[in-house]
Amino acid sequence: MTTPIDPVDPVDPVSPRPALSTTTGATHAAVLGIGAYRPARVVPNSELVEAIDSSDEWIQQRSGIRTRRFADDSESVQMMSVAAAREALAHAGIEAGQVDAVIVATVSHMMQTPAIAPAIAHELGCPKPAAFDISAACAGFCHGVGLAADLVRGGSARHVLVIGVERLTDILDRTDRGTAFIFADGAGAVVVGPSETSGIGPVVWGSDGEHFDHIRQTLDWRDVMTTDSPAMPALTMQGSAVFRWASFTMAKVGLEAVERAGITVDDLDCFVPHQANMRITDAMARSMKLPDSVRIARDIADQGNTSAASVPLALHRMVAEGDARSGDLALLIAFGAGLAYAAQVVVVP
Ligand SMILES: CC(C)(COP(=O)(O)OP(=O)(O)OC[C@H]1O[C@@H](n2cnc3c(N)ncnc32)[C@H](O)[C@@H]1OP(=O)(O)O)[C@@H](O)C(=O)NCCC(=O)NCCS
Repeated sequence: MTTPIDPVDPVDPVSPRPALSTTTGATHAAVLGIGAYRPARVVPNSELVEAIDSSDEWIQQRSGIRTRRFADDSESVQMMSVAAAREALAHAGIEAGQVDAVIVATVSHMMQTPAIAPAIAHELGCPKPAAFDISAACAGFCHGVGLAADLVRGGSARHVLVIGVERLTDILDRTDRGTAFIFADGAGAVVVGPSETSGIGPVVWGSDGEHFDHIRQTLDWRDVMTTDSPAMPALTMQGSAVFRWASFTMAKVGLEAVERAGITVDDLDCFVPHQANMRITDAMARSMKLPDSVRIARDIADQGNTSAASVPLALHRMVAEGDARSGDLALLIAFGAGLAYAAQVVVVP
């Protein structure tokens, strides 16, 4: 048994001791560049329907997904991350040597430890950066951007690489009707760094832990090892409950991020929600009363739901196809297992 310590007395004067120095960083942070990696193999609905007794029509109608990308053996979490990060660095005009911190958002790096971020940083040639993984599932990338902006403003780092990456096919049950057609693989990355004006609005983030079980791994690793026939645990989801939560609760979070950025929805150019389901995207856009002028990311149609990679992949497509221009204001919002969520308005690099 541990010995409890006495509560701190808030009125007890602190004995004289040297004051610790602190850091101050850049006045503002911004997204300086973006990159993406999409696996080569395109998988149409027709390839999946037999195992889940479904149809191309049902999947398109219920989710908006036509095709997705599945990684092959050579397209590892590390390989996809490095490819996306290299493009983001080149887009930002930043050398790997200038990166002080690497944050990798993922739930499908299949080792409990170590994190994959140090290996990615090493392959990129970043000299001894802080490098760590974060686990906030589909909301991970927006958590990473929020953290990175604070690191830059707080002076703990000058340039931060934020990567969202998933190889969800490693934890996908191809016979599960509720998930097999939804999840997919890919990577997206941004460089966050100092800026003369604010390029990343305040993050609005949180969690609804009472719904911890709504999206989860079927078994924890200890359970896997004690069953008679150990098998890889898979993703499982209470689809309808998640659908309702995302459609109704997340619009409020998006509106709060817009308000905290000091703008209105009329100022937005782009809406880049987590690519969970096209119907969730439409419900959120309606509920937030986004004007018709706001261009909406619909990457899910050809990419599926790539969890932590979905927001940067969707924004990357908009930039590549001219739907998001440099200087545009984009509302990012991501949500998923936990249930965790995060949103912020960013200036498109
Ligand atoms: C998964 C999802 C598409 C299922 O759609 P849904 O309308 O909720 O489907 P339901 O589970 O209520 O089932 C409706 C019907 O479709 C059937 N069905 C379920 N999955 C099916 C499939 N893959 N193919 C064909 N029919 C299916 C059910 O049997 C049911 O039939 P019934 O009405 O005859 O009983 C939807 O719930 C969803 O998108 N949820 C959120 C997913 C998400 O965003 N996840 C990620 C968050 S990070």
